[in-house]
Amino acid sequence: MATESGNTIEALLEEQRVFPSPEEFAKNAHVNADDIFAQAAADPEAFWASVAEELHWFKKWDQVLDESDPPFFKWFVGGKLNITHNCLDRHLTSWRRNKAAIIWEGEPGDQVVLTYYDLWREVSKFANALKGLGVKKGDRVTLYMGMVPELAIAMLACARIGAPHSIVFGGFSAEALADRINDAQGNVLVTCDGGWRRGGIVPLKQMADEAVERCPTIESVVVVKRIGDEASIEMQEGRDHWWHELMESAGLRCEPEEMDAEDMLYILYTSGTTGKPKGIVHTTGGYSTQTYLTTKWVFDMKDDDVYWCTADIGWVTGHSYIIYGPLQNGATTVMYEGAPDFPGRDRFWDIVEKYGITILYTAPTAIRAFMRWGDEYPAMHDMSSLRLLGSVGEPINPEAWIWYHTNIGGERCPIVDTWWQTETGAILITPLPGYTATKPGSATKTFPGISAAIFDEAGNVVPEGGGYLVLQRPWPSMLRTIYGDPERFKEQYWSRYPGVYFTGDGAKIDADGYFWVLGRVDDVMNVAGHRLSTMEIESALVDHQSVAEAAVIGKTHELKGQAVSAFVLLKEGIDPGDTLLDELKKHVAQKIGPIARPDDIFFTADLPKTRSGKIMRRLLRDVAEGRALGDTTTLLDANVVDNLRGQYEDSEG
Ligand code: PRX
Repeated sequence: MATESGNTIEALLEEQRVFPSPEEFAKNAHVNADDIFAQAAADPEAFWASVAEELHWFKKWDQVLDESDPPFFKWFVGGKLNITHNCLDRHLTSWRRNKAAIIWEGEPGDQVVLTYYDLWREVSKFANALKGLGVKKGDRVTLYMGMVPELAIAMLACARIGAPHSIVFGGFSAEALADRINDAQGNVLVTCDGGWRRGGIVPLKQMADEAVERCPTIESVVVVKRIGDEASIEMQEGRDHWWHELMESAGLRCEPEEMDAEDMLYILYTSGTTGKPKGIVHTTGGYSTQTYLTTKWVFDMKDDDVYWCTADIGWVTGHSYIIYGPLQNGATTVMYEGAPDFPGRDRFWDIVEKYGITILYTAPTAIRAFMRWGDEYPAMHDMSSLRLLGSVGEPINPEAWIWYHTNIGGERCPIVDTWWQTETGAILITPLPGYTATKPGSATKTFPGISAAIFDEAGNVVPEGGGYLVLQRPWPSMLRTIYGDPERFKEQYWSRYPGVYFTGDGAKIDADGYFWVLGRVDDVMNVAGHRLSTMEIESALVDHQSVAEAAVIGKTHELKGQAVSAFVLLKEGIDPGDTLLDELKKHVAQKIGPIARPDDIFFTADLPKTRSGKIMRRLLRDVAEGRALGDTTTLLDANVVDNLRGQYEDSEG
């Protein structure tokens, strides 16, 4: 089986070390015995229902799981709730009302602390402001913002009035934003005048203006003043409203909308195997239940914890594990606006020391960068407050795991390597700290109530060895559909093996039943933990007037896991050169966003294709990574590869 990322596979397969859960940790952990797994496996529905009982419902469900119309599963049928009641109101009647809900640190060093009461007030006010702009239950609201407290407030305000939010990562281009707005078709966009990034300004409002020109449904744009005069933006009379002005006149009380368990909570766009991003739809009841419990158990969340997930809220990790999971648990969640190396390479460790962070959740890409920067940066700070570390987004190579364990965790903190996807809504494969023995590079075993397996091509379970990672039973926080495209939902996830969810990941299961996720097996890349589609980047390249054809692959990259490599065939008479090369890289960044900018572009006279016309990406990957070539007999012209290979070696030399 060929996976998209070849980088860590060999290392992962040879890894033998086992780290038992530290006894000290286990003593007070939420989960420290195995009967919970047996109970959940025996009756998953009863298990999830008992979890849902811990939340507040306006009306209890009639049925836990409705499987009558697969793959359109429904959870907690007939139940009514509002996730913001569980995130906010519920805590106001306890001592938690004045506990810090969000501790926010701006990149320039400014701080905001919002208690549960503060957050409840701000959310209620903005919910009223949205209503004032005509937003009703069911209307989609797009948020295109930096990591500011207003982003958390805006998303909760949407959830409060039952308007699904669609958050678009602030690093996406105007064009990518416009595509997402047009797919979701909302009337309101919330943005910022700009965002701080490494001391520079990300021109969010300017990009929003550019996008909105192509979005006929948008009637109102709300603008948070984060930067001030330096952002030099223009406000369009009648369309644009300052956040602070709307908030001045907004009423303080806004009763939460009673949402059906299956009412849409949000849409989040992610890259798939075609050029068009998919709007992943999450609903209210099951998502609330599973994000609540996974946060509690995977992060062993306690009332005195200070928890920091370093993701951006523009990705699913931020949705589930900065906002919804932690707040439902009444936890203190930290948000940081900026870059990990600004103003210095110790910024993260400075934040850990400053706020006494006890739980840190970050990505392997970041860990590999810290490792390369050197041990001296964490050593500058007292990080003895840390008690648990997490990893997410891509396979973590054992070397990075050990570095994290040693240099950040002081060899005392368990590490939870959590596998999940935008589509799964919540963590599905993970150690439970205090219980599971860990192996560096393995996400270990399924969370209680979850059923995963490795399948071979024919759909047989592989008891030990490699294959495709699948999920055999529905789970509460699963995606319900692709927005506006139920056929694609069925085709993409449920058609490969009937009745079984296909993750798109290749993985291995070892003799102890531990999962080792190796990477994507489809045309999806994982670049620095960001999901990108090869086809989306190819379309962006072909959109350039000089390009006839393009093929994109994820090339193994020491830091980013994968980097974007593009093979480009120019139109007749166009001369390749450095100027064009730069122009094409810029073009991709402009079409999609800086995260999609190719690291290398190779101009080529032809592309290797199978007889049926499919581009042979595996071969291009071999070429880009300088590996020996495999079987090329299905090539239209085997010389193509040799030519490519020659060019690649020249450019390396
Ligand atoms: O390939 C897997 C990888 O990230 C993909 C999901 O990406 P996305 O939807 O952007 O969500 C990322 C955050 C949940 C998966 O299909 N992935 C995620 N976590 C891990 C991982 N690969 C290996 N180990 C992980 N812990």
